Amino acid sequence: MERAQIRNFCIIAHIDHGKSTLADRFLELTGTVEARKMRAQLLDTMDLERERGITIKLQPVRMTWSPLGENSKFEYRNSKQIQNSNDQNLKRSTGDVSDWPHHPSPYGEPSGFRASDLSNSEYTLNLIDTPGHVDFSYEVSRSLEAVEGAILLVDATQGVQAQTLANLEMARRAGLKIIPAVNKVDLPEARSEEVAFELSAILGCEPDAVQFVSAKTGKGVEELLERVIREVPPPRASEKNYPRALIFDSYYDDYRGVVVYVRVFDGEINKSDPIYFVEQKKSSEASDVGMIQLALKSTESLKEGEIGFIVSALKDVSQARVGDTVTVGQSRGQTIEPLPGYREPKPMVYAEIYSTSGEDFGRLRDSLAKLKLSDSALVFEPKSSTAFGFGFRCGFLGLLHLEIVKERLEREYDLRLVITTPTVDFRRDKEGKYFEPYVKAEIILPSKYLGAVMEIAQGRRGVQKNLRHLEDKVILEYEMPLSEIIVDFYDAVKSASKGYGSVSYEVIGSRESDLVQLDVLLAGEKVEAFSRLVYRSFIERVARQLVGRMKELIPRQNFEVKIQAALGGRIIAAERIAPYRKDVTEKLYGGDVTRKRKLLEKQKKGKKKMAQVGRVELPSDVFVKLLKY
Ligand code: GTP
Repeated sequence: MERAQIRNFCIIAHIDHGKSTLADRFLELTGTVEARKMRAQLLDTMDLERERGITIKLQPVRMTWSPLGENSKFEYRNSKQIQNSNDQNLKRSTGDVSDWPHHPSPYGEPSGFRASDLSNSEYTLNLIDTPGHVDFSYEVSRSLEAVEGAILLVDATQGVQAQTLANLEMARRAGLKIIPAVNKVDLPEARSEEVAFELSAILGCEPDAVQFVSAKTGKGVEELLERVIREVPPPRASEKNYPRALIFDSYYDDYRGVVVYVRVFDGEINKSDPIYFVEQKKSSEASDVGMIQLALKSTESLKEGEIGFIVSALKDVSQARVGDTVTVGQSRGQTIEPLPGYREPKPMVYAEIYSTSGEDFGRLRDSLAKLKLSDSALVFEPKSSTAFGFGFRCGFLGLLHLEIVKERLEREYDLRLVITTPTVDFRRDKEGKYFEPYVKAEIILPSKYLGAVMEIAQGRRGVQKNLRHLEDKVILEYEMPLSEIIVDFYDAVKSASKGYGSVSYEVIGSRESDLVQLDVLLAGEKVEAFSRLVYRSFIERVARQLVGRMKELIPRQNFEVKIQAALGGRIIAAERIAPYRKDVTEKLYGGDVTRKRKLLEKQKKGKKKMAQVGRVELPSDVFVKLLKY
């Protein structure tokens, strides 16, 4: 395929604004999937993604399409669309655009490119579907490095949300051409024009540059794809006399070995070429190369500007790291300049994982290692605990990531796990001072809920840094400890804003904090797994809430259980759980023996989900539940 006929782009949006559904329409429109094989959110391939209706992993797909329309078709339709809408609304000024940081180009125009005319010939469209949840913004950042343009999609009933802004910022940093679109215009409660104004304000463009679509009905979808062809620049020409491709995803396939997804920037990579991973200094061979067209389709070569896959002969996926540069035939002795790589994903929260039965330790280790082959963001190191024996301290991108890892371990590897209460990466220096990660949090919400949300942020040690208006919404910027965010900040903002507020954040560094260690004694014994670092001024409240919540979560045992919270050996809060002797067969008045046996069996099974801490039996999910006390 000629370079001029290639368009590489992705769709970015806040969670649930319709990316995967829009991708479905593109697949249909371009005939990439036959209608009878179409199913909703086709690119979400993992079971978990489909069940929960969320995208976790980025997913590239190659489509080919000949847009037969005349050149002016899109402009005509789009201007018609605007004229038909409410004139009153349209005459309103975009308000506080001046509050917005000035962008030299109207909305992320890559330098030196002007919208091109459509030609009737065939185009190759490489689309990367990205996840919307903040935990996976790392996936988004990788996708952005491999493309030239992004469709910024916003739900017509929700308007601009926190993740819209965060993704837009990333796309701008990557220098992409941005095409704004309002989705779900078919819904009766859609506020399409207002949302177009919001979008135009954050982009600094005219409202009529915003495309209206319904990913559900297909309205406007063809025009949007035409705009991708006209406005997204084709890939740049090779700058080097040797091949360079950027790895934006990699995984281990049981049959093929290590597969990497690449964007070729310079030259070409052919099947059977000797390949070299520049940063990892590893040689291998391209046993197969090709396109990602839902399934992998082998070709003879991958050329400049193309997105595709390379199967290497490597056995260990850690040798084909995301962000590395692949080249051909390093043995020729040239010095290869690597392409700018990616930031390593940094774990945000940590938790220890143990199996409920000690003998599964080996299986837990192997399963984590296997999971890491398809989830490079997961990190782990061995750890032992007096209560649970041998296990691992794991780092996750956030709580959703933790939940997904836990579910995959339990489902795909049939393990029963205890996970300790997630924490952030607290550090202590030689003088005993504590440091904790801080974030810049951006909260966007309708103005009328401002007071309630500011109160919540302040109560969580937030320091307000900025306040901007966007139509009838406000965007608040706070600096606050990450530990306060992971507890339930997002839920608290949602409920204080009747569901309309949203939050995004990014870590800005580590800061000194006045923290103290709160210990917990269970039946008189200190249990490390319950200890936590708490901000000194909050200690009494946290201690009281924690023991109260533990009382609710821990079932009665056949002896009295005391729960105490202590600060440096001094008890500051306590509860007790009265004893209870549980005989599940009691109510079965003699009678049927098999029934009685069945019931006891059932009880035994139930027990497997319990974790033993000293003399006390705890539900294995008690620690994670204690995050929200
Ligand atoms: P994540 O991948 O989890 O970030 O979500 P997403 O942005 O991919 O959203 P998805 O495509 O899963 O759509 C979210 C919900 O909105 C689904 O229930 C879709 O059916 C629905 N939806 C998407 N587009 C439209 C639309 O144009 N109109 C209507 N009425 N519903 C839509």
